[in-house]
Amino acid sequence: MSTATPLVDPTKFTTIAHGTHRYLSPLSEAKADSLIHRLALAPGQRVLDVGCGNAGFLLDLLAVVQARGVGVDTNPEFIAAATAAARERGLSERAEFVNARLQDTIYSAERFDAVICMGSSQAVGSLADAFAWAWTVLAPGGVALFADGYWKRPPEPKYLEALGATEDEMTTHGGNAARAREAGFRVLSTLTSNDDEWDEYEGRYCAAMERYIDAHPDDADAAAMAARVRDWHEAYLHWGRDTLGFGFYALLKPTAIRLSSD
Ligand SMILES: C[S@@+](CC[C@H](N)C(=O)[O-])C[C@H]1O[C@@H](n2cnc3c(N)ncnc32)[C@H](O)[C@@H]1O
Repeated sequence: MSTATPLVDPTKFTTIAHGTHRYLSPLSEAKADSLIHRLALAPGQRVLDVGCGNAGFLLDLLAVVQARGVGVDTNPEFIAAATAAARERGLSERAEFVNARLQDTIYSAERFDAVICMGSSQAVGSLADAFAWAWTVLAPGGVALFADGYWKRPPEPKYLEALGATEDEMTTHGGNAARAREAGFRVLSTLTSNDDEWDEYEGRYCAAMERYIDAHPDDADAAAMAARVRDWHEAYLHWGRDTLGFGFYALLKPTAIRLSSD
């Protein structure tokens, strides 16, 4: 999804707006910890984080499990932040970060024990495309953690206009889980972001941008960024809070692939 409001530099905007987030998703530390434990990874296993952002989640995972992680993201600022955070947390030996497009990074022969794709399915295509792709890079018995948007209720046309989206870009929470099953995964468990997590995520996004604009009135992009963040926050309060959900899907690629479903 993209916003309908014009913008000078999307990478600059998203980097500033996400400047104070631990995760670039509506997710509390307590829920992140629960998701990490649901994956039940073993020491030495290899984890690929697609569109890792600042790698807050991947680094939290590596702090709990002695696994090895590769995070890929196109945003150089996020990768720099992830690299610095790994160093500060003493996790650099087990964390590798690649500043590139996913499609230029991972080769078809590579296999991982886990794939994380939180809010980053666009790195592959649609959510269904991302499920199909994750299947190809996971070893049998591997796990995936996906997180993606869903409609809590049918979106109003004016909300779609504000998002610059169409209704068919997303389905329901149950629809997302069904697509994972259609791709061949066993759905282990699911979660959703609650209102507090959304308010925290959207509040940090809005506050970081408003503070930046306040401190940099001469920035050539200030007016465009102000228009965008205000339109975005109004759309969140008016429609998004009741309409847009964010679901988490812990998935298992079956160890033995059978021809008929069991
Ligand atoms: C919504 S953020 C989620 C970040 C992170 N997964 C999290 O939840 O904290 C989506 C991320 O995907 C990255 N991204 C988008 N397209 C990509 C691509 N083709 N290859 C790698 N990363 C991509 C963006 O730069 C952004 O950091």
